[in-house]
Amino acid sequence: MNKKIVLLLLAILFKTIPMSADEGMWLPIFLQKLNEKEMQSMGMKIPASAIYDVNKSSLKDAVVLFGGGCTAEVVSDKGLILTNHHCGFGEIQSHSSLENDYLKNGFWAMKQDEELANPGLSVSFLIRMEDVSAKVLEGVNPSMNEQKRKDLIAKHISKIKKDASEDNKYDAAVRAFYAGNEYYLMVYQVFKDIRLVGAPPSNIGKFGGDTDNWMWPRHTGDFSIFRIYANKDNNPAEYSKDNVPYKPKKFLPISLKGVEKGDFTFVFGFPGTTQEYLPSDAIQMITEVINPVRIDLRQTRLDIFGKYMQQSDQIRIQYAAKDAGIANGWKKWIGENRGIKRLSAITKKKDFEADMNHWIDNQNDSPYKGLTKAFTDNYKPLAYWKKSETWLVEAAYGIEALRFVRSFNSLVELNNKKDTDPAKIEELVKRLISGSKEFFKDYNSTIDQEVMIALLEKYQNASADISYPDILTQISQKYDNNWEKFAEKVFKKSILINEEKLLSVLENYKTSDAKKISRDPLFKLTEEILSHHRTIILPKTRFYEQNIDSLQRVFVRAQMEFTPTKRFYPDANSTLRVAYGKVNDYYPRDGVKYTHFTTLDGIMEKESAEVLDYVVEPRLKELYKSKDYGRYAASDGRIHTAFTATNHTTGGNSGSPVLNADGELIGINFDRNWEGTMSDLMYDPEMCRNISLDIRYCLFIIDKLAGAHHLIEEMCIMD
Ligand code: ARG
Ligand code: ASP
Repeated sequence: MNKKIVLLLLAILFKTIPMSADEGMWLPIFLQKLNEKEMQSMGMKIPASAIYDVNKSSLKDAVVLFGGGCTAEVVSDKGLILTNHHCGFGEIQSHSSLENDYLKNGFWAMKQDEELANPGLSVSFLIRMEDVSAKVLEGVNPSMNEQKRKDLIAKHISKIKKDASEDNKYDAAVRAFYAGNEYYLMVYQVFKDIRLVGAPPSNIGKFGGDTDNWMWPRHTGDFSIFRIYANKDNNPAEYSKDNVPYKPKKFLPISLKGVEKGDFTFVFGFPGTTQEYLPSDAIQMITEVINPVRIDLRQTRLDIFGKYMQQSDQIRIQYAAKDAGIANGWKKWIGENRGIKRLSAITKKKDFEADMNHWIDNQNDSPYKGLTKAFTDNYKPLAYWKKSETWLVEAAYGIEALRFVRSFNSLVELNNKKDTDPAKIEELVKRLISGSKEFFKDYNSTIDQEVMIALLEKYQNASADISYPDILTQISQKYDNNWEKFAEKVFKKSILINEEKLLSVLENYKTSDAKKISRDPLFKLTEEILSHHRTIILPKTRFYEQNIDSLQRVFVRAQMEFTPTKRFYPDANSTLRVAYGKVNDYYPRDGVKYTHFTTLDGIMEKESAEVLDYVVEPRLKELYKSKDYGRYAASDGRIHTAFTATNHTTGGNSGSPVLNADGELIGINFDRNWEGTMSDLMYDPEMCRNISLDIRYCLFIIDKLAGAHHLIEEMCIMD
């Protein structure tokens, strides 16, 4: 007995993995209890209640979830918000054309009536959050099977949401935390009339492009400006020309003081997903099985896109957003794999699990017995199915035509059903018409045909090791492995990717057309692949993932018990969080040190007329030459463009306000360094840095380059 206690104590002592103060994305409601003291010891001068308070206005009232996956902050009493250029990219692109190339030239509304509406774009303010674990988990017991548990939880959640929405005044969401050990209610107010106010030209807003993406030193002027509109009562409303600028409860004051190394900063935003508490088997599956497939297949697509984008301005505009999206994941996963390897993360996790098992074995009747083995038993088969799924998603759905044709599935299904209300079909056809127009606006079938050939060839070469759709085996037999011939034929014959033919069918739609569609070669191909995904792969991945979900829930609890002195923050899940740290430089590799900030001089250093990503905006060059920096220069006389700090951030934090010790806005978060992208799986204080746009560079562009003085005047800027 004594020996056991000693062993246990030893295990706890040694296994309390020291977590640096920089790691973590914390829940604003617990800041006071868990973090305030530490934040203040690191330099923060405001109380936690200034950041989050339900009864008084606090900084949280100036932070919004922007669209589906970014953050923005309110910076004026007229609902002006700042986010990243890459977050507003889709909107900027959708207003762009060859004649009005806002992507290339930038866009500035000089008057309010020039601000551009963006159907579909919304921003959400968090009104409050609340621990509802007890209500959600009422009646749930450990012996319940996973499906029963899920159903019961879903029932509770839907009731909680309904009550919290106050007759649809608010959007309520209940999210799982700590792998489902806890549940929190989030109540949002959602605004739907969000207008584009300003965006710098891409050679500022996307300077460095994909070459510099995920990298430091960085010089991207990654910001865009929008405005929230409300109805006359200052409440959310659908777009209307009668709407007026929203009057916020709070907006952020902006500081021109800049940052020094060691300064306290915090990032307030909506991080999307992290997975810090996974077992070694999971890290192995992600980095050794899934990531390599994604990287390889995206490389193929990017090469083809790139070739065509360089040849034509029209294609460059059409494919800009798609290309950026594909490249972003591709490069992140490359960095993630390198970081995991450099950290020996898998070995570290394995060692941790071995120690934990030791601790478990030394207890009588531990509820955690056999946990790691159970993980292995499930991750092994899951890895095979995940690999198959990744191939299917990246190779087959990597073909734009296939993704597009999927949307016709429901039309055929609806048609085939007996007694379908014709009005329903009409409604769907209408939607398909507008969806098709949108699709073809940015579609080039020559590119897609080349993509199809390349991807299907690769898919076939991998087929021996994965679950591969039968239809593709049949095609390769029929066409003697000549995917080129197959693609040529499909693209020629299919009416579904011929804009003219398709629209003429849809616009004169009759029920008999459903047959025509269902016989289309592209439709058949898509159907078969979809069905392989749905009926063969998904049931398997779901099965193992469900097992793993319940194991993970127990594993997180086990980790908390095993390392009781460690402070656990919940994984990111697109809910509002605070990350805090200090402005800091880093050493990416032996003999190299990166400073914590970059300047306009660096843009001139990178300048190249040949490399598209490094073309410098002529007007910026003039300002640089004349040193017309106004009050935006740092004390060294230069324009600082970006800085790095140790805040723990992830995808979704883009556009987040970066605040100083006084809670003033000093930057806009937009990226992480390549050496640190594994922070979604394992954070490393030595190497992980968030990258922020220096707010002074942003204001300099608005004021001096765009001459949008009215926006500067709207903001509260402090010297
Ligand atoms: N890496 C950043 C993030 O994950 C920015 C991506 C946008 N820029 C680009 N060149 N693709 O969102
Ligand atoms: N660039 C990312 C975003 O869009 C931020 C990150 O992953 O660090 O949210």
